[in-house]
Amino acid sequence: DRSGLVDGYGRRATDLRVSLTDRCNLRCNYCMPAEGLDWLPTDQTLTDDEIVRLVRIGVESLGIEEVRFTGGEPLLRRGLPDIVRRTAELSPRPEISLTTNALGLARTAATLAEAGLDRINVSLDTVRPEVFHQITRRDRLHDVIAGLEAARAAGIAPIKINAVLLRGVNDHLAAELLHWCLEREFQLRIIEQMPLDAQHDWSRTEMVTAEEIFASLEQEFTLSPDPQHRGSAPAETFLVDGGPVTVGVIASVTRPFCGDCDRVRLTADGQVRNCLFAREESDLRGSLRDGSSDEEIADRWRLAMTTKRAGHGIDDDLFLQPTRPMSAIGG
Ligand code: GTP
Ligand code: 5AD
Ligand code: SF4
Repeated sequence: DRSGLVDGYGRRATDLRVSLTDRCNLRCNYCMPAEGLDWLPTDQTLTDDEIVRLVRIGVESLGIEEVRFTGGEPLLRRGLPDIVRRTAELSPRPEISLTTNALGLARTAATLAEAGLDRINVSLDTVRPEVFHQITRRDRLHDVIAGLEAARAAGIAPIKINAVLLRGVNDHLAAELLHWCLEREFQLRIIEQMPLDAQHDWSRTEMVTAEEIFASLEQEFTLSPDPQHRGSAPAETFLVDGGPVTVGVIASVTRPFCGDCDRVRLTADGQVRNCLFAREESDLRGSLRDGSSDEEIADRWRLAMTTKRAGHGIDDDLFLQPTRPMSAIGG
């Protein structure tokens, strides 16, 4: 089959999410412990050339249409502008996006835009400095805001904000965050927390649900369904006070969108993961380093899709949290 990355349920992966590093300069408490994690050794991390080769194979031979760079924190990767530039030179040119915490973005936004970065999603759970510090364990809110402003000045659009709500921490501040985003024309999406933290502290009952997110926002805003077609996007969008501005809710747990999934992931150490919650990975780093041809790598990648399961199964009795945390899988 030369047709692309099709799984056993007939879903076609066209959206490639590439983790560039498992490291991060924040320590969000729903993601990692204060001391950080055992980072991947350099020799196991793909080089810039290896990353670009895999992206090229995905785009030229496997039907990948969108490439999103993630981490860990992808801005920590020195070669990011060059990786973006080389991705933008591929044909057919994929859409290129970045998911980042925006630390350091103030310095690189213009370079990234010029290299071909189309869109950016920034993780920002609160705009209160003390709550930001409580969640991320770092006092860097001003850097994030400077990064967002630089991205706007560089013409990157749209700019989306991702916020995870944590009970008793920032769940009462959702409407405040939406006001802040609306004033600045950033598109807010509020996310249900998934069981992907390194500490395995996630609990289904502690999680702030989409239903609670709506209730909280509706104290200050009127939300109505957005007539625009959602497609395979994880965010369900709602018109705020009749529109045209919208707010998104990513209800991965209570309203899974796995049936429309079009994603495949590549970890920083060169493993294909067909799902965030996959039980196994397929090693492409070995293939890159043993002289395999592009065709052989493409075949291995296609084969990796055949074990993709119907969904994440978070609510199943036998659910097992993945051994890798989100920071090592790619956000
Ligand atoms: P857009 O293309 O801008 O819509 O990006 P995105 O929302 O797909 O990507 P982003 O990296 O901003 O991810 C936002 C949130 O979506 C994450 O925090 C996850 O909660 C959720 N998400 C991203 N990818 C997946 C996925 O493959 N499966 C599930 N279940 N959730 C995902
Ligand atoms: N569940 C849902 N989203 C998460 N993120 C990090 N950890 C989790 C989790 N356990 C979010 C980050 C970032 C995006 C890539 O994923 O806030 O915005
Ligand atoms: Fe796709 Fe897995 Fe995410 Fe569901 S959990 S949307 S199947 S990657």
